[in-house]
Amino acid sequence: MSRPRFTNKLILFLVALAAALLAIYLFWSFEYSIKTLLEHRMGTTPSPSAGTIINAVKLLLIGILAYLFVRALNFLFFGLAFRLKRIDAPTLIRNIFTIVAFTILFLIAFTFLFPEVNLGALFTTSAIFGVILGLALQDTLGNFFAGISLQADRPFQVGDVIVVSAERHTGVVEEISWRAIKIRTFSNHVVLIANSNAAREPIEVCSRDNLNARLVFFNTLYTDSPAKTIHVVREAVREAENVSSRVTPIVRIKNLGDNGVDYEVKYWLEDYAKYNDTDALVRQRIWYAFRRAGLNFAFPTRTLYVERPSRTAQRDGDGGAIVERLSAVDIFAPLSVEETGMLAQAAVRHVFAPGEMVIRAGDPGSSMFVVHNGRVRVQVNENGRPRTVATLNEGDFFGEMALFTGEPRTANVVAIEETEVLEIGHAAMKRVFDTNPDLVESLSFIIAERRQGLASQADASTPETDSSAGLLSAIKRFFGI
Ligand code: CMP
Repeated sequence: MSRPRFTNKLILFLVALAAALLAIYLFWSFEYSIKTLLEHRMGTTPSPSAGTIINAVKLLLIGILAYLFVRALNFLFFGLAFRLKRIDAPTLIRNIFTIVAFTILFLIAFTFLFPEVNLGALFTTSAIFGVILGLALQDTLGNFFAGISLQADRPFQVGDVIVVSAERHTGVVEEISWRAIKIRTFSNHVVLIANSNAAREPIEVCSRDNLNARLVFFNTLYTDSPAKTIHVVREAVREAENVSSRVTPIVRIKNLGDNGVDYEVKYWLEDYAKYNDTDALVRQRIWYAFRRAGLNFAFPTRTLYVERPSRTAQRDGDGGAIVERLSAVDIFAPLSVEETGMLAQAAVRHVFAPGEMVIRAGDPGSSMFVVHNGRVRVQVNENGRPRTVATLNEGDFFGEMALFTGEPRTANVVAIEETEVLEIGHAAMKRVFDTNPDLVESLSFIIAERRQGLASQADASTPETDSSAGLLSAIKRFFGI
């Protein structure tokens, strides 16, 4: 409970208590005068009806005081004592306590004020009372006992996601009271489901302690290989945020459909309450992975056939932009227009989603990358946590260290925003080195500088870095120059 709300409630309680005490004090002080007035109005002295009215008012006032007392007791016991022991008392238990304590106090006051009334006989013999109780409290008692069985059974707890009733209300459980289960839907609406209804309906419980799974569907063209699709999607999905790393996602063919091959990917979530966002992220990752791997979503083929330009034609189409990009990269400055064109011909475009990893530290590498659009960050792992050592913008390059030295990747490179990179492979680089050996020199200088940067950020366990001259001969050896 927030502080201002608590203070407001306390003030309200104290005002109500003061008003009840004042009313009791005044009524008791003027009891004799009120009784005389009543008897005078009724015309009989002494009048038994006047006495009954006085006692009924007294019972009402004592009832109000008893109610306030029980509320205070409830707060002290469940609100403070339970909290001190770090236990959250269920609302239903609190309500039962309030009802039982209030009933006991009320009955004590009743027997004290009306000693001549036999309560036992009133409850057991009054047929009217039974009918009223039976009819009026039918739903209330149904909810109450269903609530007790829910508390005893504990099929779900506050914080779990549940799907309940024929309307399939889905949301996070906020409270289980004596009357209803309160859930907050993913549209931030509150839905109250009467306990008796919930007890009749099947309830799907996605408990917080359980590793809950989701299914996301997609399809591909019949020409796309299932083995490749399954591998690409599995790798893309397992990396997504909130996808549990404890179980590897399962990708499988669901159907050979009219338009293409239908797949489903089953993945497990760390926090099930965020499944809408995670489903969306998984679909996004599948889209980007498809784009990079050259896979295609299926489209209705019955009525429409869209002829796509071939990949080569597409590349020729933006060849100019790639040549322009590569010639602006400083290490390629010594290359002639023809040599840059050769490199551009061999370059492969890839697009990455924000947050996706382009390169992972420790992986083997046989290509380097130029940032065509977007931005990436270079991260090293420090005490198990990633630390950014550089941000690279359009026209910058990375991945050259592993490509030229044959060592594993030295850092993670992660897309900051949607980023398109141009990948240049070992064979293309070798062709360029053969025609322009000067390039090896400027590259070895940059690699030595970056290594120095990494070594100065890392701990003492990092091996000694090679000098630019040592690197130069290592690269030449590696490329057979
Ligand atoms: P590589 O080791 O192949 O893969 C990770 C890449 O991150 C690495 O090549 C470099 O291109 C790049 N990198 C490492 N350290 C730095 C740095 N300090 N500044 C810029 N880029 C770096």
